[in-house]
This record gives sequence, C-alpha cells and structure tokens, in this order.
Amino acid sequence: MNSSAPIHPAERRTAPAVVAQGLVKTFGDFRAVSGIDLEVRRGEVFGVLGPNGAGKTTTLKMLATLLPIDGGRAEILGVDVAREPHRIRQLVGVTGQYASVDENLTGRENLWLFGRLQGLSRKRARATAEDLLGRFGLEEAGDKPISQFSGGMRRRLDLAASLITQPPLIFLDEPTTGLDPRTRGQMWDTIRELVAAGSTILLTTQYLDEADQLADRIAVIDHGLKVAEGTPEQLKNSVGSSTLHLRLEDAEQTARAAALTARLLGEVPVLTPESGGLNVALADANQAADVLIALRQADLGITSAAVRQPTLDEVFLTLTGHPGEPEAADESEATTPQPEEVH
Ligand SMILES: Nc1ncnc2c1ncn2[C@@H]1O[C@H](COP(=O)(O)OP(=O)(O)OP(=O)(O)O)[C@@H](O)[C@H]1O
Ligand SMILES: [Mg+2]
Repeated sequence: MNSSAPIHPAERRTAPAVVAQGLVKTFGDFRAVSGIDLEVRRGEVFGVLGPNGAGKTTTLKMLATLLPIDGGRAEILGVDVAREPHRIRQLVGVTGQYASVDENLTGRENLWLFGRLQGLSRKRARATAEDLLGRFGLEEAGDKPISQFSGGMRRRLDLAASLITQPPLIFLDEPTTGLDPRTRGQMWDTIRELVAAGSTILLTTQYLDEADQLADRIAVIDHGLKVAEGTPEQLKNSVGSSTLHLRLEDAEQTARAAALTARLLGEVPVLTPESGGLNVALADANQAADVLIALRQADLGITSAAVRQPTLDEVFLTLTGHPGEPEAADESEATTPQPEEVH
C-alpha cells in the first residue's frame, strides 16, 4: 500500500504468507496456545486441524490481530503482526466463527455496504454484490435479512464478503462446519477457485477429509501444541491409508484374531468398546482381503467388516497415543493386545 514500513520491500515480496514462532496465548492460568510454530507458503492452502478446544480459533485470532499475542512472534507477508496490526488487517481477509455482518441488513445490502466500506464506488459495489450473490448461490437470499439466513447461507455470505477486495491471504475458521454435503462441496470449490486466482488460504477444520480435499499441508494441534505437520498424504500414512473394522462372531476369539492380524500386517489392532470389535490401520486398502482370508482359514467367523479412511480420532490416537486427554495415555495400551500373546 505505502512504504513507511521498517521492513525492506524486497523482503516482503519473498516472505512466506505466515511465519509464527512460539505463539502463546494464555487466559488466566490456562494456556490455550502453548508455543506453536507455523510457516504458510504463498499460494498454498494450509490446514490447521484439531478437535474442539485445541486452540485453532485462538491461533487464527492472534495472527489476524483480533487477540493480542502473549508470547512468541508472527509475521504475515513480512509484516510483524504485533508491531503493525493496521497493515495486517489490509493483508488478511477473515471469515469464520467470529463473523460480524449486520443482522438487520439483507444479503445484498450487506455486500454492498462492505464494498462501500472498502472504497468501491456505488456502481462498482452494486455490481460486486450481484456478482458475489450469484457466485455463492445466494440470489434468492439477497433480499432476506441476515437474521433469517440458515447456517449455510451465513457461511457463504461471510466468505463472499471477505472476497470483495481479494486479499492476498484469507483465514477461514471451520468454513464448512454444520453445512450439508452439497453446500460443503460448493464451499470447497469456491476455496479452490480462490487459490487458483492467487490467494493463500489458512483454514481450520475438525475434519480430516476437508483438510485432505483442500490443504497442501496440515498442522495438527491438540491442547495448544502442534503434534504433527505434513502433507495430507504424510499424515494419512502415519495412521495407515485406511482402517479395517471387524466384528467377530465369537467375542472370545477377539485376542486370537487381533494377534493373527498383527502378525499378518505388522500393525497391532485396537479393540473397540463393543465386544468382538477390532480396528486395524492398513497401509493399503487391499490388505483387507488378506486379513479376511487369514481369518477364514483360522476359522474365525466375522459378523461385519468395513474399510474406511482414517478419522481424526485415529490420527490423534496414532500421533498422541490417546484419543483426547493426555492424562489417559495408558488407555490404548490397556486395550491393545500384544501379538505374542496367542500363537
Ligand atoms: N476468551 C477466552 N477466555 C477463556 N478461555 C478461552 C477464551 N477463548 C478460548 N478459550 C479456551 O481456549 C481453548 C482453545 O479455544 P479455541 O476456541 O481456540 O479452540 P478451537 O480449536 O478453535 O475449538 P473449536 O473446534 O471448538 O472451535 C479452549 O479451551 C477454550 O475454552
Ligand atoms: Mg474454533
């Protein structure tokens, strides 16, 4: 925009979209974000994945200058977040759980108003509003007040509003939580279009499939800490490409089936709470057939078998050794049979 900044313009042109080092946020005695490092490259979709309360929104809010940074530092496109918050607000479009559109205005009025606030002429603001209503399938919602919008409509309007100025970096906080599958797919398409048009996207999600569909790289956070980082492929490989879910006819034989599976795959199955149930990560979905054949040959009957993609829970189980609470780290050992128990 202008050149009063203390940072060299050349450095800004090559700086990553986001660099965060040791980010900390405390609320009283509670450390919601406990020393997180992030680097988001220009032009990529970077996903921050984690369960409820992991610290995703708090991290995004600090980067967007909506919350002060309590420890560590962050730069966006070479601009220091704490030192130059006003510049950061010009570089980042923020949408998500903290959306603040005026409830009494219609969708059309809202977009028009955003456009005017961003300095567009009346005519340009009107044309942009119409264009965005069309792109987001909100034409018929254009005349409704926001207070009558469904969750999906709100989310789409919120994203549309953040696109009026095409900011170079867009933060999306759980862009599809609570949306139906069709609307979710539309959001994904829109996000892909933004990237194709040159935007960098930092998004949070609770869904591994969403991160998988959209993100070039992912950081998994849990309890305010980064527990893993990598491409979706790398993360999935760390938990197997898919999981085989089995239910045995005779629950008494579960340990035997688990041991056999472990020997076959070199991967120890996890017993599920329901009797006779076990889950095992597969490096390749085709291994499911090997397991089923081996069980049949060992006369171990099953009532059901299913192969599915890893869930976020399974990623966490593998990455952290526990489903949610760090104190319960021994739990998986207690329910995991050792392959040498049965021969
Ligand atoms: N203003 C606040 N005051 C006190 N605690 C807070 C505040 N904001 C967030 N927290 C706490 O910080 C932790 C992280 O919250 P955050 O909203 O960042 O989680 P999240 O990963 O975005 O979760 P969700 O998936 O539910 O949106 C939570 O335990 C939350 O209760
Ligand atoms: Mg959140």
